[in-house]
Amino acid sequence: MQIIPIASGKGGVGKSLVAANLAVALAQSGKRVVLADLDLGGSNLHLILGLRAVPQGIGTFFSSSSFPFESLIIDTETPNLRFIPGDNEIPGMANLKQSQKKNLIRHLLNLSDTDFLILDLGAGTNSNTLDFFLLSNHGIVVTTPTLTATVNAYFFIKNAIFRLLDTSFEKTSWARLELDRRLASGSGVQKLYVSKFLDEVKKNDQESYAAYKKATRNFQPRFLLNMLDDPKDVDKVSRVRRSCREYLDVDLEHLGVIYRDELQDVALASRLPIILYKPQAVLSQAIYRIADKMIQFERADTGPLDLTELEETYQTATLEAEIDFSAKLAYLEELLDTGALSTGDLVEAVRSQQFEITQLKKENTLLKSKIVQAIQSGYKF
Ligand SMILES: Nc1ncnc2c1ncn2[C@@H]1O[C@H](COP(=O)(O)OP(=O)(O)OP(=O)(O)O)[C@@H](O)[C@H]1O
Ligand SMILES: [Mg+2]
Repeated sequence: MQIIPIASGKGGVGKSLVAANLAVALAQSGKRVVLADLDLGGSNLHLILGLRAVPQGIGTFFSSSSFPFESLIIDTETPNLRFIPGDNEIPGMANLKQSQKKNLIRHLLNLSDTDFLILDLGAGTNSNTLDFFLLSNHGIVVTTPTLTATVNAYFFIKNAIFRLLDTSFEKTSWARLELDRRLASGSGVQKLYVSKFLDEVKKNDQESYAAYKKATRNFQPRFLLNMLDDPKDVDKVSRVRRSCREYLDVDLEHLGVIYRDELQDVALASRLPIILYKPQAVLSQAIYRIADKMIQFERADTGPLDLTELEETYQTATLEAEIDFSAKLAYLEELLDTGALSTGDLVEAVRSQQFEITQLKKENTLLKSKIVQAIQSGYKF
């Protein structure tokens, strides 16, 4: 069984959309898929799947000791796709007890007749979310091209790395004591360079170093860049990748790009995943492409990619961004030709996009000035 956790630092970047549609795409290709809504407290995956009401969610399982886990799993209208609903009744993932989390993980790992288990996670970096993300070495980190989303994607990965440090070091080891000392010394997580710290661990505590290296040997999360407007935006992810390599000693693969697609709003209103509503949409095609990659990974079942292979994933993403952009333009032209879209509609769409771009520029300027201030006061990324 392949586990695909889908996370992000920032909320609203498209995790649930990707989770639901990827699940449908994999199921359509004959894979047996279970999709779990682990965004406890903010569960909305059933709505994206087009289910109005769900019988019980994970909260019911936690609140009743006699409730069998299997009863949570429901069939969907898509053959091969089963669904585990989340819950809004319980106050959120952060409040999940350690024992509850372990119990849930045990049940998830023991799912039978399943090729892919897709986990839709909530935004943020609480330790439960990180633990679900770390059930796979190749979890997906969704981001959009905005500065807030990419910075938050970086922080998510940084927190995942800290979680791995935390769980790799023995309680009384030099590395653990040193890590705790530094984290407690006021400078906190923010000022610790993982790469430099690991050099010191290697010198002073080889056992801990080996344990961390073992835990991260195959750790190579995958970026997914959503809500692209412009092919040039592909670069935004490369910057996060550079920071991860430089400061966190971890490299990431590029899983691909998805453009912002206005048809998604129509699909949502029609209560259907876009991949069922409009399989030809640029967004649906991008999801099929990701599903194909997932199936290839499943077949290859290899370790992490080497540097050349990783570079190739970034080049492929750049190429895909250009191809999809042409597809988007061709689709617009088609709409204009058939009269489905008037020139007036197009002008209106461009205007509203320009407004959005101006808003984003403002947001970026504000954030940049905050970052400069933070760096000046000694904060390190
Ligand atoms: N490529 C896209 N094109 C158009 N709309 C999109 C795209 N991706 C996501 N959306 C829309 O953006 C909104 C947020 O998406 P979604 O709920 O999947 O994000 P999320 O990361 O799961 O959010 P949360 O952190 O709240 O769980 C939704 O209205 C969704 O339909
Ligand atoms: Mg969501």
